[in-house]
Amino acid sequence: MSKKNNETLIWWKHGVIYHIYPRSFQDSNGDGIGDIRGIIRRLGYLKELGIDGIWISPMYQSPMIDFGYDVSDYREIDPVFGTMDDFKELLEKAHKMGIHIILDMVLNHTSDQHPWFIESSSSLINPKRNWYIWHEGLTGGKPNNWKSAVGGSAWKFDERTGEYYMHSFFDEQPDLNWRDPELSEVFFEEMKFWLDMGVDGFRLDVINLIAKDKKFRDNPVLLGIPAFQKHEFTRNRKRSVAVVKQLRELLDRYENKVSIGEIYTHPPGDAKAAARYLAKGKNGIHLAFDFSLIFSRWNAHSYFKSITKWYDSLPEDGWPCNVLSNHDLLRSIDRFPWRTNREEKAKVAAAMLLTLRGTPFIYYGEEIGMHNTHVAKKQILDPLGKRYWPLFTGRDKARTPMQWNPEKNGGFTTGIPWLPLNRDTPARNVRQQEGRQNSLLNHYRSLIKLRKSCEALQRGSWLPVANGQNGIMAYFRKTENERILVILNFTGRNKRFSIQEHTYGLVLYSTHRNPDEYTYFQNMQISPFEATICLVSE
Ligand code: NOJ
Repeated sequence: MSKKNNETLIWWKHGVIYHIYPRSFQDSNGDGIGDIRGIIRRLGYLKELGIDGIWISPMYQSPMIDFGYDVSDYREIDPVFGTMDDFKELLEKAHKMGIHIILDMVLNHTSDQHPWFIESSSSLINPKRNWYIWHEGLTGGKPNNWKSAVGGSAWKFDERTGEYYMHSFFDEQPDLNWRDPELSEVFFEEMKFWLDMGVDGFRLDVINLIAKDKKFRDNPVLLGIPAFQKHEFTRNRKRSVAVVKQLRELLDRYENKVSIGEIYTHPPGDAKAAARYLAKGKNGIHLAFDFSLIFSRWNAHSYFKSITKWYDSLPEDGWPCNVLSNHDLLRSIDRFPWRTNREEKAKVAAAMLLTLRGTPFIYYGEEIGMHNTHVAKKQILDPLGKRYWPLFTGRDKARTPMQWNPEKNGGFTTGIPWLPLNRDTPARNVRQQEGRQNSLLNHYRSLIKLRKSCEALQRGSWLPVANGQNGIMAYFRKTENERILVILNFTGRNKRFSIQEHTYGLVLYSTHRNPDEYTYFQNMQISPFEATICLVSE
């Protein structure tokens, strides 16, 4: 763009972040599981895509009950992913290419194989007893009615010491006690270990769950069904916000670090709850996932409402982040209804993601429109899928290997892949899309490039023009020097669109129009699933 503003760009705010599920990105040693050397090999691909940072799901030592979200040593790399030297090499090479590395930090719980828990459960008087949440049973059973997020009671009886320990997820994931000052101090040291090594920040797993009610009060039961409860005393407690503040202090001892909280609410998409953790001044985390786009229905008005709710909930100096998919939920392309025009819809969604105000996160494979993969019952590995099949078939379907090329196993591994590749791999893969000018991948690349060349898209204000009620969402992104208009047609029908104040603009990017042409914004005909981005003349 022509006139430039000199305000410094901040990588986590104005850049684009890519989420890697490491088991599934690239295998380098033929064991069928993705690893660090595989990620190193694909850094060039990420650079070319225009990525500024990668968030990698946990790679610490783990018995892998929950595929890494059950950590048994926060300072070790699990051998399945490689060695510490591999990690240091990744960090160094990524940094040289201007790519930042964000680790996934699991604060709420450890593995039951973590030495801390082994000690804590060894006796009632062990010095680490209070590092976890222990409670004696009440007459007749469990300490209270708290439920785990994966179903069943959140309490597990420990034969050896005759008390119950709490687990918000699986039995093998005991919850840490963040009310214990010694524990918080020790845990922050684990984080410091990585910060000192040079990692650029952390995604904070279920950060709003880390503190529980001091008095262990029962959660209110919903609809009279004990299994359904409002997690009033187990989530979003004041203490979690206080821990987040301490955590911010730690990060601020370094330069340019980021923290991104996963704010897991029920029902999902609670923007207000997510915003409570965000920085007011320096008193909170930098970014929070509120899940609102993920849970929006495919229509312009529903997205519009989620976006405005999210933006309106932010504290004054809070910065949003936007995400369409992650490793726990269905891939976005398969959430769009009717199974028709999915690639066109994915392009509209990408244009939205990459032009909204806030940091965009891309889930690996989203850029080539990877679908959920059918995983047969005997191949299911996700413990949730195993437990609930056939009611819920688990999360494996959104975690299958990256589809790099049409060759065997999509170029992901020379061995037997840990999860099956999608059957569409020969036709849907990076190599194929690199060679097709109009592919989804090239669409993502162009949008990211455009975002990087436009200060208004990176940091401008967001001013809605059409609220989606007739199927079109349109908004300005604006700085002093630049005004960009984004027009998105979420429907499969032709639409008319007009704005009064500005008569025309230059097409910067469009799924349907030629770039570098002028277009008039009066009674403009918008094609089905059109996404058009214009530089507007003053
Ligand atoms: C949220 C993570 O995204 C999910 O994969 C994991 O199972 C739970 N937290 C427990 O750590």
